[in-house]
Amino acid sequence: MEREFFAEIDSSDSAEHRKLIKENDLVILARDLIKNYEIGDFLVKAVDNVSLEIKRGEFIVIKGHSGAGKTTLLNLIGGLDLPEQGIIYYDGVLITSMKEESLATFRLMNSGFIFQNYNLISTLTAEENIMFPMSLAGVSLKDQREHAVSLLSKMGLENRREHLPFQLSAGEQQRVAIARALANRPPNILADEPTANLDKKTSIFIQALFKELKEKGITMIIATHDDGLIELADRVILFENGKILNNT
Ligand SMILES: Nc1ncnc2c1ncn2[C@@H]1O[C@H](COP(=O)(O)OP(=O)(O)O)[C@@H](O)[C@H]1O
Ligand SMILES: [Mg+2]
Repeated sequence: MEREFFAEIDSSDSAEHRKLIKENDLVILARDLIKNYEIGDFLVKAVDNVSLEIKRGEFIVIKGHSGAGKTTLLNLIGGLDLPEQGIIYYDGVLITSMKEESLATFRLMNSGFIFQNYNLISTLTAEENIMFPMSLAGVSLKDQREHAVSLLSKMGLENRREHLPFQLSAGEQQRVAIARALANRPPNILADEPTANLDKKTSIFIQALFKELKEKGITMIIATHDDGLIELADRVILFENGKILNNT
């Protein structure tokens, strides 16, 4: 019942939303997002009625304490998870109405995800991990390999092609994960505390790389506390208790 009611609001406003997206070149337009977690008697409002807009090419930092809801928000924005209520347009596409299968394909071509815990496939080598999204996208094996090697070399990991994730340091795993996120040349990057558990040298490497991606016009949406990344931001969204504190 609620969902139907909501769908009505959504369609009646959609012309207005599309106008906003077009006029402001928005990569993300999100309205009234709600995501709760119910554990026993407890209800956690992880994302509590959040609306936001992100322009193409913006470097956005989402900053907030642990438990604020940053990961949940990032997963919603990137279409990894669905809100209980609310709508999200991603590059003009209403992803909150998409079927999981189309959404997966959409994600594959449009967003590179970088996770806090790397999320590499443990049975695949560094090179194969980077090839994996390209294989899903239908890239030829030869091109997959060539591009993976070039990305590994960009990450300073040309000698780690055959290594499995457990044979790599944390910093090396994250650099492989970043290479994987870049594999299909996505126009947007979403990163969840990408430097949180890393040494200073790798953090600085990632800051420089993200700066370069920003200069190439890639939209960067990053949950982080890292001052080096915050310095690069066009806008810092302060997020606490599932809410944006400074919605400008
Ligand atoms: N899968 C889940 N099940 C239950 N509660 C969750 C789950 N994921 C997150 N939460 C809760 O939602 C809140 C926000 O979590 P999260 O988005 O991970 O915050 P952050 O990334 O800012 O640390 C936290 O209180 C957390 O305990
Ligand atoms: Mg988190």
